[in-house]
Amino acid sequence: MSEPVSMELTREVRFSIGNGCGESESMNSWAGWPATNGPAPYLVLRATVRGIVDEQTGYLCNIVTVDRAVRTHLIPLIRRRCCEGESKGVVSECVLLSIVAPLSAALPGHVELVRVELRVTPFLAYTWRKEQPVVVSVTQSFEFAAAHRLYCDSLSEEENRRVFGKCTNPNGHGHNYMVEVTVCGEPDAHSGVVLEVGRLERIVNERVIDVFDHKHLNMDCAEFATTNPSVENITRVIWDRLDGAFSPAKLSKVRVYETPKTYAEYAG
Ligand code: NI
Repeated sequence: MSEPVSMELTREVRFSIGNGCGESESMNSWAGWPATNGPAPYLVLRATVRGIVDEQTGYLCNIVTVDRAVRTHLIPLIRRRCCEGESKGVVSECVLLSIVAPLSAALPGHVELVRVELRVTPFLAYTWRKEQPVVVSVTQSFEFAAAHRLYCDSLSEEENRRVFGKCTNPNGHGHNYMVEVTVCGEPDAHSGVVLEVGRLERIVNERVIDVFDHKHLNMDCAEFATTNPSVENITRVIWDRLDGAFSPAKLSKVRVYETPKTYAEYAG
C-alpha cells in the first residue's frame, strides 16, 4: 500500500423513538432498531467522520463504534427531547445541534466528526457541518410533473435527432421531477429555526411548483421558450427563481432529479 490517506466515511443509523419502542437489538439490521409496535417517529441519522485509513485493517473507523455511539448516547437524548417533557416547542435544528457534541465525544479519538444529517421524514433533512458549526442546512423535497422536448433551433432536424434521440420527438414527453431545495443559516435565537418549514414550502410552491407543475415547459414557461429544458437548465432556472427569497436564510443548493437515475445540482 502507498501512503496513508485521509478520507471521509459515512454511517447511517435508523431507529424509532417514542414510548413503547422495543429496547432490544432488532433482527432486522436494514430497518434499524429500536423497532416499534406502534406509531412512533422513525428517524435516520447519518454521521460522517474524517480520518486516516489504518494501513493494516483498511478501516478509517469501525462502524460498530459509530452505531454504539448513536444508540448509547443519542437515542435516549433525542427521545427525551422529542417525546417527553422537553418536547414542547422543540425544533429539529435544536435537536440536531444538541447531538453533535455528545456524538463527537463518543467517537474514537482518531476520527473527527465532520457532518451530521438528521432525517426527520423521508423528505426533510437537517445537516450540521464542522466547517460552519453554528449553521444548519434544511433540505426539503418537492415534486412536479411536466412535459418537455429537447430541441435546439440552432441545430438541424438531423442534428437534433442525433444529439437528443427520442427526447426530441416533436410532441414532447413527460417526467415526474423531484426537487430538493437546501437553505442554510443560523437558527433564530428566539424560535430556534433556520426557516419555518411552512414558509420554505410556500415560497417553493409559489415560485417553482405552481409555475411548472402539469405544464409543457417549452410551450408554457417563458424561461424555456428559447432555452432547452434539460435537467441542467431546469436546475439553474429553479435556482434563479429561489435565490434571495428565504432571507435571512440563504439558498445553498438546488438538486433536480429528472429520473431516479439522473440529477443535476447547482450551488450558485
Ligand atoms: Ni426528458
